[in-house]
Parts: sequence; C-alpha cells; structure tokens
Amino acid sequence: MKFLEDATLADKKVLVRIDTDVPLTDSNPIEVRDDYRLQKLLPTLFFLMNHRAKIILCGHLGRPLAKADPSLSMKPVFTHLSALANKKILFATDPFSLRTTEAIEKMDDGDIIGLENIRFFRGEEDNSRTFARKLSNLAEIYVNEAFGTSHREAASVVAITEFLPSYAGLQLEQEINVSTSLTRHPAHPFIAIVGGAKISDKLPVIRNLLPKVDRIIVGGGVANTFLASQGVDMKNSKVEEDYIDRAGEILKNSKGKIILPVDYVWESDKILDIGEEATHQMIHYIKSAKTILWSGVPGKIEQPPFDKSSKAIAKAIANSPATSIVGGGDTVGFVNSLGLVHKYSFVSTGGSALLELLGGRVLPGIRALG
Ligand code: 3PG
Repeated sequence: MKFLEDATLADKKVLVRIDTDVPLTDSNPIEVRDDYRLQKLLPTLFFLMNHRAKIILCGHLGRPLAKADPSLSMKPVFTHLSALANKKILFATDPFSLRTTEAIEKMDDGDIIGLENIRFFRGEEDNSRTFARKLSNLAEIYVNEAFGTSHREAASVVAITEFLPSYAGLQLEQEINVSTSLTRHPAHPFIAIVGGAKISDKLPVIRNLLPKVDRIIVGGGVANTFLASQGVDMKNSKVEEDYIDRAGEILKNSKGKIILPVDYVWESDKILDIGEEATHQMIHYIKSAKTILWSGVPGKIEQPPFDKSSKAIAKAIANSPATSIVGGGDTVGFVNSLGLVHKYSFVSTGGSALLELLGGRVLPGIRALG
C-alpha cells in the first residue's frame, strides 16, 4: 500500500474520496450538526495544499439510492469544511458537466473543488468500472481518505483504483495502524458495546467479533431484535422482523457473550433507552475491561431524557484507564457534544467499517489500495 507521503503531488490533480456522511440539522438552510469527520480531513487537506496539489473532493451523504436528493446535497458539507479549513471550496453541482471540467482545468495549485454527492449516481454503489473510469478522468492521482466507507464496494472507493495511482490518506493510515494493533494484541477483558438503530447492519459484524472479544453488550434497535428473538413483547418498538431468527441463532451460539439489556425505558408503547439496571450492568463491564470498543448508542439520544444511558456510558468509558476506541457517526458526534473526545484512546471516523475491520474482514477499499 502506498501512503500520501509517498506521492509526488505538485501541480497534480488529486481526487480525494472523503467520508462526509455527517449528521445534519433539520433547519433551513441545512447545516452540519457534528463535524468530527470533517475535522479529521483537515490534515490531509492541508498536506495536499502545502504540496501544491489541485484538490478534487468527492464524498457522499446518506443513502440517496442513485437519485439526486436536495436534502442530501453536499453543499452544506463544503460550506462547513471551507470554514474549518479557512479556504474557498468551489462546489460542482454536476461532477461530469463541461463547466466542472473547465473549472478543474483552470485550478491553481492548492485550489479545492468539491463534487456533489457521488451516491446520486447509479455507477457509484454498483462499483461500476465505467463510472469509475469517468470519475478518474477528472484527476491524475487518487487518495482514499474515507475509512468510514472503505467497507463498501463502491466505484469511488474500489474500482477507481484501477485507473489512477492510488494512495491512503493520513487518517486512513492511522485507522489501519490502530485497528491492526488492536486485532493483534488486544488486552483482555475486551468488551464491545454495540447499539444503533439497525441490527441488519450489525449482525454480521457481531458474529465476527464474537471470537475476538469477551463480551458484546448490546443496546438500541440492535438489542430490540435480540429481545424479540427471546420472546419479549416489544410492542411498537423498532424491531427488524426479518432478522429475528438470525439474531436468536447468533445469541444461542454466543456462549453467553452477548449481554442483552435487563430493563428498558418505555415511551408509551416504544422502548427508547435501556433502563437503569442495564446501564449499571454496562458500567460494571466497562470498569473491569482493559479494551473497550464502542459503536452505536443504546438510546434515542436526540430526544432527552432518552440519552441518559448513552451519557452514563460515554462518561464511564472516558474515566476508564482501558484502551478505548469509539466509532460511528452518531456515537462520535454524541461523545464530541459531551466534550469527551480527548479522553478516548482513539476516535475512529468509521462506524461499520471499524467494526468490520476489527471483526477480521479485509475491507474492499483497503484491499484495493494494494
Ligand atoms: C457511514 O456513515 O458509516 C459511512 O459513510 C457508510 O455509510 P453507509 O452505511 O450508508 O454505506
């Protein structure tokens, strides 16, 4: 694998795949609600500017399913990034228009152009070689600085590397180093706290993590589907019906490693947080752990008081001397909002990507870099 430090960048057009999938506000105009991922792009951005590259930024927001969706436009992201970097970013609403090609041709060293949401295009999620070739025509060098998307077989992450000399960005390099050392020599007890809305995203990862960790403590929608598999009446709580059997199977084979919440907080007929007893139990595991991996919050953090358990957990991890790794947009945003980011050993820009890598999968985006 080649790293950014190895590249000759001066005067070169460099396409940087960034992970800009950040939480947004509901306001009009839409704004970035948490910018942790964007802050982590700055070292690579400054490196490229200092080395006189012409920078073309390409990222995504959400899952627009190959259709242009104004609520997922990259404009607010680039407005925010531009303010963070104190540098003008020209926004290209159509990456493949003549206007964009001309703007790229006119770039000076250190200039930045930001492309519209790459997931507006069908070829992206299909990992289409044709689409990747088209994208590659915009630049001379490719940099992957999108760790959070490197578990996806997408054209701007995987196929693109067939057409351009490709490098890992500075943050990606750090993510790989931390994850590698963690998978090789984790101190035990090693616990994973896995929450978030959807079990469909997390179930394969939980299965892969099981042999590596001592406990997986679940919360949020992930826990709900596990609980449903045990016959708990979840009423109207978020449960993924299609995954109930699989969740039950994994639980049965987990040798007691998966810990479900023992109590929950209801709002009318929905569970919106784990209960006090379950929170105490999580804190007990946190206190005795030597390595803690956290991705996915156990409650509905955007609706206090259902952020209570998440707050308690965030603080308990921050106060623990264990090696602590936190990942996932919402989780990191939450920890950031509590001002605790600096208390964790490593704050990853990846969510599922981090969990998959730690579960032993070679991520397609990393494999593609050679
Ligand atoms: C993320 O936010 O975890 C990444 O941007 C990947 O998003 P995805 O799960 O929609 O592919």
